[in-house]
Amino acid sequence: MCRICGSTVGEFFDFGRQPLSDTFPEPDRVDDEFFFRLAVGICESCAMVQLLEEVPRDRMFHDGYPYHSSGSARMREHFAGTARRFLREELTADDPFIVEIGSNDGVMLRTIRDAGVRHLGVEPSGGVADLSRAEGIRVVTTFFEEESARRIRAEDGPADVIFAANTICHIPYLDSIFRGVDALLAPGGVFVFEDPYLGDILELNTFDQIYDEHFYLFSVNSVRAAARRFGFDLVDVQRLSVHGGEVRYTIARPGTRPVTAAVEAMIAEERERGMLEHTTFEQFGANVKRICGDLVELLRRLRAEGKRVVGYGATAKSATVTNYCGIGPDLVEVVYDTTPAKHGRVMPGSHIPVRPASGLTETQPDYAILFAWNHEEEIKQKEKAFHDAGGRWITYVPDVRIS
Ligand code: SAH
Ligand code: TYD
Repeated sequence: MCRICGSTVGEFFDFGRQPLSDTFPEPDRVDDEFFFRLAVGICESCAMVQLLEEVPRDRMFHDGYPYHSSGSARMREHFAGTARRFLREELTADDPFIVEIGSNDGVMLRTIRDAGVRHLGVEPSGGVADLSRAEGIRVVTTFFEEESARRIRAEDGPADVIFAANTICHIPYLDSIFRGVDALLAPGGVFVFEDPYLGDILELNTFDQIYDEHFYLFSVNSVRAAARRFGFDLVDVQRLSVHGGEVRYTIARPGTRPVTAAVEAMIAEERERGMLEHTTFEQFGANVKRICGDLVELLRRLRAEGKRVVGYGATAKSATVTNYCGIGPDLVEVVYDTTPAKHGRVMPGSHIPVRPASGLTETQPDYAILFAWNHEEEIKQKEKAFHDAGGRWITYVPDVRIS
């Protein structure tokens, strides 16, 4: 049943039993991993693409949540730019106030703090919330939902901007989110959020964007329908190139802002591209199977030739690739990553060891699968020595390639 409108959800792909994508067990603690059925479908009525099974939120977002947003230079720049835009265009009133849902380690709010503007991060994962607090950013360690939003409204007053990046798509209970936004948002304020775009996922075959945390894969059409259902207008959309292609949605109270032409243009484009038709999703499923087949065949061949193959980037995305394709330590001996909290742990489900990224050039394997393909440019530049010494990168979206 659709989490937004209650209609039937037509399943289009089943990845089978999958682990939590951001829980990296200690090597001797792999017996009590949590698994769920990762299957995805589209609502026959409101076209919202969503998971069929929901993982309890406390299992995913807790003190040990290992994802640190500031780990990428490009993302630091992206969010500094986002904050500057808010400061210039939205936070111009007397004593403005901005709330961020899912502020993580403070990657966006840092710039707001520097400007001396009143702000609050709402971040349930205590570890990353503490990191941002240590930098003087104001954060509450809690989930954003109707109740916490009402509390913030009572204590801090209305928010001129409510922002969220890569977070709203993580939240199945969108009804409560919108009621919270309704309670907290100033009459003329905006609710802005950016998330991976279904159009890019279909076009680039980035099936690894589908995992426990990504409960929704948004399109402009489905977000507009959801906004209307919960009493808001979708007033603007903007495409972003980060994380393999996202859309930034701007939502406001009805009649408070003009609706830009971009909204209708993107919805028309989605219709033309068949983003409402089942055959499009069936084709996507066929592409996923082909890519996995090609990737495993390549890895087996390299293995037979005695080559050393590693992974780069212990991403949440890679949990779907390794577990769905059946890639374990026999095919990929180690995954290198820059996040200290992941070091000495093993990858969820596949149990491939995770080690510090310096290992790539220190051990100079023959091939590295770029699991963090969304940071391709940054990583290839940083790890240029690996390629210069003859190492080759393997990518698997939109298809399997060696470069
Ligand atoms: N905004 C950052 C972090 C994205 S990761 C970025 O774009 O890089 C998603 C974050 O959302 C995590 O830090 C997680 O703890 C947080 N989160 C999950 N559910 C939430 C909720 N209901 N309210 C607020 N934050 C939530
Ligand atoms: P990311 O792809 O942003 O997200 P997700 O986990 O949501 O799929 O994660 C990037 C991972 O890649 C993170 O664990 C840090 C790692 N990384 C490196 O190892 N080296 C780098 O240069 C960068 C940018 C990231």
